[in-house]
Amino acid sequence: MELSGLTGTVRSLIEALEREAPQGQAELLRVVERAAVDERDLQALHTFDHDPNLSYGRRCLWQGPHIGVYAMSWAPGDFTALHGHGRAEFGLVLFLGAAAHRRYDVRGNEVRLAAAETVPAGTAVGVCTGDFYHAMGNSGDRPFMTLHIYGAYGATGCANDGARVFELETDRITVTGGSAYLHMPAQYRKSYATGIRVDLDTRRDYYACIRPFFDRIGRTDLLNA
Ligand SMILES: [Fe+2]
Repeated sequence: MELSGLTGTVRSLIEALEREAPQGQAELLRVVERAAVDERDLQALHTFDHDPNLSYGRRCLWQGPHIGVYAMSWAPGDFTALHGHGRAEFGLVLFLGAAAHRRYDVRGNEVRLAAAETVPAGTAVGVCTGDFYHAMGNSGDRPFMTLHIYGAYGATGCANDGARVFELETDRITVTGGSAYLHMPAQYRKSYATGIRVDLDTRRDYYACIRPFFDRIGRTDLLNA
C-alpha cells in the first residue's frame, strides 16, 4: 500500500518509523507509544471480509528497507498457526482488542506450551527475536484488529521471511515468506519438513484454539489429539 493511502495516526506512525529508523525493541516501543495510534484510523484498514480459507486478515501497510508494518484483522474464530518470525530481530504487536495468546518453547522440532493468556486491548507486546514462537487469535465474539511492526537490519525486505510455522495437525514444519495461516495454502509454503515432537497437553490446548477455524472450513477431522 502506498503511504499516500494512509491517514491519521497510522500514517504519522509510519512516517516516524521511516524518519527515525528504530534500531531495536526499546526504540520501536517509544516510537509506537508516541504515535498513540487511534483505533478508528486502524479500523479503516480492516480486512474482516478476508478469504474464509485464510485464517486471519493480513495486510501490509508499509515495507521499508528494514522495517515492515502490517494491519491484521481478526474475525471471531480467526487464529494464526503456531509460528516464529523468520529473520526478525525485533518486533511489536499493538492489540486493539482482547486477544487469545499462546507462547511456546521451541527447540529444533520440539514444541511445548509455555504460557496461555488473554492480552488486553491497548497492550503493546514485544514479539521477537526470530526465536519467539506464539499463536494468537480471536476466541471472542466481536472482531478486532492488531498492528504489527517487525525489523531486521541483518537483511533487507520482509523481516519475517523464512518464518517457521508448526502445523501440528499435518505434522509439517513449514517455511513461509512471513505468513502464519492455519491449514497453509500451498502458494504460501516455500518448503516443509516433517517430524514435530509435541506433548499431548500442548497439542490439545492448541487444537482448542484453532478448532473454530477448522470448523469453518469443514476440516475438524484433522484435529484428533
Ligand atoms: Fe507472530
